[in-house]
Amino acid sequence: MTTFISQFSTLSQQQSYRRTETIKSLETLIAPLSLKEFFKKYWKKKAAIIADDNPQKFRQLLYWEQLQNLLVDCPENHLKCFDNGPPIPGEKANLLQRWHQSQTLHIERIEKLVPALEQLSGQIAEDLKASTKMYAFCSHPNRPGAHLHYDRFDVFVLQIQGYKKWQVQLNRGRKPYLERVLQPGDLLYLPRGHWHQAVAAKEQSLHLTLGISFNNFDDSPLEESTFSPFLLKLKNKILKKF
Ligand SMILES: [Fe+2]
Repeated sequence: MTTFISQFSTLSQQQSYRRTETIKSLETLIAPLSLKEFFKKYWKKKAAIIADDNPQKFRQLLYWEQLQNLLVDCPENHLKCFDNGPPIPGEKANLLQRWHQSQTLHIERIEKLVPALEQLSGQIAEDLKASTKMYAFCSHPNRPGAHLHYDRFDVFVLQIQGYKKWQVQLNRGRKPYLERVLQPGDLLYLPRGHWHQAVAAKEQSLHLTLGISFNNFDDSPLEESTFSPFLLKLKNKILKKF
């Protein structure tokens, strides 16, 4: 596992660190966009990418080298894999093996393992009077992770390392209204219910997801992953009648 992580971490070790403001609240997370502009233009309305032209921006929160220790201590039930479908649970050794072989590794509730993430997540929860939770996704290039889906909560995506192409659309079968490659340091906001999918490009990708819910969180981040195509058709037919 060490060798594998080392391959992932080479880039971040070589790059010089540029100091940035401490990210500890919604205001510092979305900077340089102001809170006023964010809530007026995007919150609950449409997806947006906030670029700060600082590839180091989110490495104060998590970096590849940290993952090596995190994965040793991480409880098995915090880990899952994705392979262009719903989350795959399993034994830790098996999940790490799947990750090594090309699947996307997903670490749930990562804020419980990293104090800087717990601080950020807790502050945003307090400010918005909401519940929050965080995930990390480690993906291989050109390998789809989660399939097209929507989440029942608002989401911020913090691209830490690598590049990931995102597509966001209002509904299944609709043309994406946002299609863009996230670069290190970019932030993506996804309103609750907007369909999305992403695939890593060029190199291995590490991103964090911050989910914000005003109801109780469902444990599954993927609303539609639990429906078979047949049940989905049936559900959509029934919904059309009302
Ligand atoms: Fe999602």
